[in-house]
Amino acid sequence: MPLLRSAFIALSQNSLLRRFVERSAPGRRMSARFVAGFRIEDAMTAATALHQQGFSVTLDHLGESVSTAVQARQAAQIYHWLLDAIAPSGLHANVSLKLTQMGIDLDPALALELVTALVRHAADAGNFVRVDMEGTQYTQATIDLVRRLHAAPENRGHVGIVIQAYLRRSADDIAGLLQDGIRIRLCKGAYKEPPSLAFPDKKEVDASYIALMKTLLKSGVFHGIATHDPAMIAATKDFARAERISPSAFEFQMLYGIRRDLQRSLAQEGYGVRVYVPFGDEWYPYFMRRLAERPANVLFLARNLLRR
Ligand code: FDA
Repeated sequence: MPLLRSAFIALSQNSLLRRFVERSAPGRRMSARFVAGFRIEDAMTAATALHQQGFSVTLDHLGESVSTAVQARQAAQIYHWLLDAIAPSGLHANVSLKLTQMGIDLDPALALELVTALVRHAADAGNFVRVDMEGTQYTQATIDLVRRLHAAPENRGHVGIVIQAYLRRSADDIAGLLQDGIRIRLCKGAYKEPPSLAFPDKKEVDASYIALMKTLLKSGVFHGIATHDPAMIAATKDFARAERISPSAFEFQMLYGIRRDLQRSLAQEGYGVRVYVPFGDEWYPYFMRRLAERPANVLFLARNLLRR
């Protein structure tokens, strides 16, 4: 793993720096590059603007690794409010959440209770909850929880998961999830993992991504191909064309503020594009992972800060 990537991922877990930066005015200004604001209204404003440009969205209330049950319940409550705000809006919007935000480290039963209620709410509203994937200590627990929720007939099609192509186990995990018809977002993976669990080389990650993408596209279930990598996108389009899979059978997904040019051109070509829109005060770990993916972002941000 390149040194800078490791350094930024380590910084993303530094709680002292996090407390200082998240509240500072320059920090908040910087976060605007990748974060849509701090309140539900900000997220809905961003979602509306994206909708007008032909995108659907998934809204993420930023937060992870909560330390009390009260925080977990507050985070879940925000997602209930979000689902209520989306319902009458006419936007093509669903929500994405993290299990460490729902308190899985404190008490797995609490996370199950909170996510069960959210999926029930989404199902009643005809909407969808995506459970993001975090580090490998949570992979199995996340898969187990999503499969358990999806097994309830009323939840079918209303809860989905994320699979990371850098993990060696992902082909097996996908096979199990597809048996249940669960919707999957395929991404490369954003955490720091040992080579015993994750492919260390970009080439291997990319080869895994393409192989898994093909499995997903052939499955007949609607999945999200989440990447900004032009090579992965080209491989997906080529495969769909060769296999006569309609562009409406899957969607591309990208992060708010990243490769907006590519987002626009895919939408103009007629592909479904869903933008992942994060918002909230707790932007620091998410933001640092985005710097880890592309350390050149640091220069970009520094230039912007000096210009303002
Ligand atoms: P790659 O990292 O190879 O980058 C390809 C190109 O994309 C770069 O050359 C650059 O042009 C552009 N790019 C990528 N990242 C950029 C950045 N930060 N800033 C500017 N340009 C950038 N991960 C995870 O572990 N769990 C999850 O639940 C999710 N969820 C998720 C949702 C969605 C919608 C997306 C798009 C991504 C995720 N991820 C994620 C993150 C994912 O695992 C991965 O870290 C990033 O998407 C970067 O990988 P790429 O596929 O873009 O390719």
